[in-house]
Amino acid sequence: MNVLVLGSGGREHALSHKIVQSTKCEKLFIAPGNGGTAALGENVSLDIESAAEVAAFVKAHAIDIVVIGPEAPLVAGVHDGLKSFPELENLVVVGPRQAAAELEGSKDFAKEFMMRHNIPTAAYQTFTKDTLAEGQAFLETLEAPYVLKADGLAAGKGVLIIEDIDEAKEELKNMLVDAKFGDASSRVVIEEFLAGIEFSIFALTDGKGGYALLPEAKDYKRIGEGDTGLNTGGMGAVSPVPFFDETLREHTVREIIEPTIQGLVKDNLPYQGFVFFGLINTTKGPKVIEYNVRMGDPETEVVIPRLETDIIDLFVAMHNGTLGEINVAVNPQTAATVMAVSGGYPGSYEKGKVIAGLREFEGTTVYHAGTNPGEQITTSGGRVMAFTSFGADKDEALAKSYAALKEVSYEGMNYRKDIGFDL
Ligand code: AMP
Ligand code: GLY
Repeated sequence: MNVLVLGSGGREHALSHKIVQSTKCEKLFIAPGNGGTAALGENVSLDIESAAEVAAFVKAHAIDIVVIGPEAPLVAGVHDGLKSFPELENLVVVGPRQAAAELEGSKDFAKEFMMRHNIPTAAYQTFTKDTLAEGQAFLETLEAPYVLKADGLAAGKGVLIIEDIDEAKEELKNMLVDAKFGDASSRVVIEEFLAGIEFSIFALTDGKGGYALLPEAKDYKRIGEGDTGLNTGGMGAVSPVPFFDETLREHTVREIIEPTIQGLVKDNLPYQGFVFFGLINTTKGPKVIEYNVRMGDPETEVVIPRLETDIIDLFVAMHNGTLGEINVAVNPQTAATVMAVSGGYPGSYEKGKVIAGLREFEGTTVYHAGTNPGEQITTSGGRVMAFTSFGADKDEALAKSYAALKEVSYEGMNYRKDIGFDL
């Protein structure tokens, strides 16, 4: 089968890496891809938010499967656009349709979904600029810290957690009235603060109530050691998560995973693709912090390498509505990944730095996140490369990743030395 992966990050490199391991993969294209994916297939230049452009490529290259990596094309309705061509009726598209992608595209939509299906989450209310005064009064009824969330997509920056009530009221105004996050904050969800440790779980669903549960992961979002400093896209990840034991797994499946998968069917939300459950383990059990309608990055770089079942078989079963019949095989070892980033990230940073020391490492796979292909691989983004290794435990896995990281260098290179510190 011919496969087209949309996206350019470590997630897409890790997915591509798994896809080419399948004997069923004939040709792989990645749009736009990166310096890592260029070694696995053909990088092609496409506007991945334009369904018409993607559809033309699919037809010209007899593509059988399109894997939509990031959220933007999903929320923009690229899946729907592809399916508007009658000749693409049988195309396998991994990623929900626009109506279902609203689970990530709108926090308010996601909260209403959770309320409807009794899925545990933080108490909340939603406000607009016309209800600013009510929103400020609602803040008064809560205890610090205050959680303010821009309703729409804000590149991972739309959540504010604020200690001071006056500052929270001011920020609410900034978001609603002064469009702090543009249109994304024309509605703001104010939420109860939940204390606990965060982790994520992933499923692939066929939209008919069937799903394959994938391994869980914990990611490290802050730039600084000890989870300090600014939020990033993710600085590292570990899978499995040791505290996610059988009891917690059963509870999570029963209270969160099943009601979500069945809720999609009940609400007629057309969803064939990966579901990312962002969870927090509170003293009252796990609660949903957010849904994403795609795999996480860098969680993919630990979750997908552990997958032993042929990923193309999973995609085909997803398309045929038979995912419930598949047993997913997973490598029981621990996978850990450490992200190397550009100097200055998540603030401003320079690109185009030559990366020295890249080679095949025994026991470590380097997934490119922000690199340019070429004779000399150079940096092209804030997050540059994820170093993934396996071990009997996280320490063994991380030791391998850190050893490989020491051999690679570019100007300004930075990475966290303490991934997994809290596990
Ligand atoms: P989100 O974009 O919804 O994932 O939020 C970003 C981050 O903010 C999460 O990963 C959490 O660390 C934090 N967060 C979001 N909502 C809450 C909440 N209700 N209580 C505590 N922390 C939260
Ligand atoms: N690592 C978090 C995300 O992909 O949203």
